[in-house]
Amino acid sequence: MEEKRENALEMGKEKKAQDKESAEEKGRRAVILLFTRISFVDAMYDVKDIKLAEQGKLQLGWAEMHMPALMVVRSELEKSKPLKGVKVSACLHVTKETGVLMRTLKAAGAIVSIAAANPLSTQDDVAAALASEGINIFAWKDETQKEYDENIEKALKNGPQVIMDDGSDLHATLHKRKKDPRIIGGTEETTTGVIRLRAMEKEKVLRYPVVAVNNASTKYLFDNRYGTGQSTVDGVIRATNIFIPGKVVVVAGYGWVGRGVAMRFHGMGARIVVTEVDPFKALEAVHDSFEVMKMEQAAKVGDIFVTATGDLNVIRVEHMRSMKDGAIVSNTGHFDVEIDVTGLRKIAKEPKRIREHMQEYKMPNGNRIYLLAEGRIVNLGAAEGHPSEVMDLSFCNQVLSALYVYENRKDLQNKVYSIPKEIDERIAYLKLKSMNIGIDKLTQEQKDYLSQWSHGT
Ligand code: ADE
Repeated sequence: MEEKRENALEMGKEKKAQDKESAEEKGRRAVILLFTRISFVDAMYDVKDIKLAEQGKLQLGWAEMHMPALMVVRSELEKSKPLKGVKVSACLHVTKETGVLMRTLKAAGAIVSIAAANPLSTQDDVAAALASEGINIFAWKDETQKEYDENIEKALKNGPQVIMDDGSDLHATLHKRKKDPRIIGGTEETTTGVIRLRAMEKEKVLRYPVVAVNNASTKYLFDNRYGTGQSTVDGVIRATNIFIPGKVVVVAGYGWVGRGVAMRFHGMGARIVVTEVDPFKALEAVHDSFEVMKMEQAAKVGDIFVTATGDLNVIRVEHMRSMKDGAIVSNTGHFDVEIDVTGLRKIAKEPKRIREHMQEYKMPNGNRIYLLAEGRIVNLGAAEGHPSEVMDLSFCNQVLSALYVYENRKDLQNKVYSIPKEIDERIAYLKLKSMNIGIDKLTQEQKDYLSQWSHGT
């Protein structure tokens, strides 16, 4: 009883402090906005604390050191300025790596506006640094849904010509309103976003060409697999500080992301269980030495759960009811739809915040479930997303795709395009060069051999 009262008191104090903080923050942001409008003619921003800019610049410098391919691209573009005066609006996770991309677009001559691609993924120091460098930015960590939507609107205010997206919230927003003839085309970073765009293309409602950055070999083979693999383990560990060896990690979905997550948890000594709906992927997981079973069974044996399917309600209330006491549940898919958090909130007692990014839910049977990052993308909510080295590849693709759309605007139709192979290959070579790795070339004799059919056994 005493303990409960103390808990209630603590929660009350915490809530009051949060209310006060959010009122102060709102005030501060309003002042900053006013100040910005007066002091810079060409930049608008709404960030948590502009005083974090110096720290943000240090982070950007650290990221640049680990993004050598993008730095080569930047040094070329800043000479020729092929995007001079072009307005680009972006909706991306505001991390130090995205900051390097924004600096690169600016160096190429673009006028950039950006909002966050997730309410939890903004790094406030980076956002402040970008604001101080004249980039229009509307993002802070822990946005409410309303703030998230409003920030997307603000990023669209300057009448963009090129749209750069991660998850397609910006593309979808634009397609729900009157057509804007200024828009030339766009890009899309992620699997989920490309699925949405393909649905628009199929319904013949897509209004401009979009390059699916995600489809580049230099994107999905590295970012989706190795990037998410490492950053998801990072997110789970930062949120829980749990020991991985011997744990049963259930990975839902064995696409590139699921493969990377399973591989990295396995590498740390976890026992992996995969759940799938695709028979080929299920077989692949078995051949990779992992156990495959239905979620219904996996729910009973898992210690840590990670969803990576891109689809909704993969972990449902019926599964959570059969989980062990202490089960840790997280999602690394783009949207927070894979775990039925609403259902969990209905049946479980008031959640208790145990640590940053970790809530305890008491189930009707007395078992406790620990939900990470509110069921949102755990690698960006509880950690910092993929490391710079892998985003180097992804963001070379982003900037070169934006340029491709802009330069080929007369020839492209309202379709989803893959990035041309030459650009993809160029990025791979740039990265290899930065790693001091040379590879062989086919001889003429080998090329001829591969192009004929008459030589057999
Ligand atoms: N998506 C995953 N990791 C990311 C990062 N570090 N920056 C931007 N987007 C990301």
